[in-house]
Amino acid sequence: GAELIAAGEKVFKKCKACHEVGDGAKNKSGPQLNGLIGRTVGSVDGFRYSNAFKALMEEGRVWDEESLAAFLAKPKSYIKGTKMAFSGLKKKGDQEAIVAYLNSFR
Ligand code: HEM
Repeated sequence: GAELIAAGEKVFKKCKACHEVGDGAKNKSGPQLNGLIGRTVGSVDGFRYSNAFKALMEEGRVWDEESLAAFLAKPKSYIKGTKMAFSGLKKKGDQEAIVAYLNSFR
């Protein structure tokens, strides 16, 4: 619901140094995050992903709510070799909120 999305907008402050989402979102040091749920892992044009991400893209892996929450909880354990320098969202509530927030951008 709207409250969860609003909570996710606050959590997204932790991501903003590296990511944009929404109208006109561009790649920064991380890829833009529009339409993420259902998007192939590592598939944003013009973004240079790690080899770990390239391998998942070639396998055709797709982001869903579960994989996204698991990645954001502990990025470097979930995708070994990722270059996303972020320690993770420890709180279940933060994981749920960010997934709801990102899912509001198609
Ligand atoms: C990749 C989300 C924080 C840098 C990704 C991907 C997602 C994501 C979903 C995969 C995108 C795809 O498959 O196209 C988030 C969220 C964050 C966060 C929600 C905050 C909770 C950060 C921070 C940085 C960062 C703080 C920079 C210090 C990157 C980079 C990649 C990436 C470089 C590409 C990874 C690779 O190629 O191995 N992020 N991120 N992210 N993110 Fe983040």
